[in-house]
Amino acid sequence: MSFARKISSTRFLVCSDIHGNYAAIRQVIDNMRVWGAGRLAVLGDYVGYGPSPNEVVQFLRKTAGEMVAASGKANDVIMVLGNHDRWVLGETDLLEPTHVRALKSLRWTRAIFRRENLDFLNQINNKVALGSVGFFHACPQDQVPFPYLDPLHRLPDKIRGNHIEQPWTDWKTNPFGRNVLWPAVKTMRETRLRIAFVGHSHRPSVTGWKDNGFFFPKPTQNWEDGNSRSDVYQIEEGAIYIINVGSVGFPRDGDSRACFSIFEPNDSQVRMCRARYDVGETIKEYARKLELDSTSGTETTFDPDTLSDLVSLLGDGDVKSDLFDPF
Ligand SMILES: [Fe+2]
Repeated sequence: MSFARKISSTRFLVCSDIHGNYAAIRQVIDNMRVWGAGRLAVLGDYVGYGPSPNEVVQFLRKTAGEMVAASGKANDVIMVLGNHDRWVLGETDLLEPTHVRALKSLRWTRAIFRRENLDFLNQINNKVALGSVGFFHACPQDQVPFPYLDPLHRLPDKIRGNHIEQPWTDWKTNPFGRNVLWPAVKTMRETRLRIAFVGHSHRPSVTGWKDNGFFFPKPTQNWEDGNSRSDVYQIEEGAIYIINVGSVGFPRDGDSRACFSIFEPNDSQVRMCRARYDVGETIKEYARKLELDSTSGTETTFDPDTLSDLVSLLGDGDVKSDLFDPF
């Protein structure tokens, strides 16, 4: 079926979890032109962890303003808030005390965050629906703490790459499926959503539901050239889809390239994409903030261990630190 009757047929670029990584979001927005996307949806976590929260939010404010001014359609840009953004806006009960590094990073963000960027975040909703397509940070259901809609989450053997090779299907007996995936589908059925775009887990995935069970679609086409990757999924008639678009700034699936999706409503297609960007710029900026922080005489926010973890995570794509533990 075509979604074109419900929402504009123009392609969406859908992305999430930028986390203050300015070089990464610039690269992703550049990809809008590459993929011919005329609409943008960003699913939150603009800030936290990364060194450039002001630059990221300012860049998105400018991009959103230009896109809406050019088309005259407010719905051409959709933005929702993530849990890190909501913490900076004052919902501090969303953060569990065990997330020490996230907490330090968010305290620092709140201290340096510019008023105009805070005002901008304040205008953003927690969720948006356009026809049968919903946009959320973590999940369609109201559930706190935020669950990960990621069928591979907590599997003993993490699977590298951005498509599922060993689908987990035992959702009825697995508590994660019962408690997290099923409530998401139930909410979607109740609210008449066919597709839910989510982020939050930092791991891209495509999960389907039809005939009273989950399925894990395989891409119908894919290509990889070292710098970019694209896996195409066809949306089936009568099925419900949860599409986790992964993370722009800090993917946790072993591929450090920026992750995003292209949604083509007219063809009922979703592409899961990766794009290489200048990781060195982000690492240098983190090191610069670390240096500034150490000479400012204020409470230390950045630390060398965090920097080496960042280099490790972004440099070779191997998730071996606890820097980006779930939150
Ligand atoms: Fe996040």
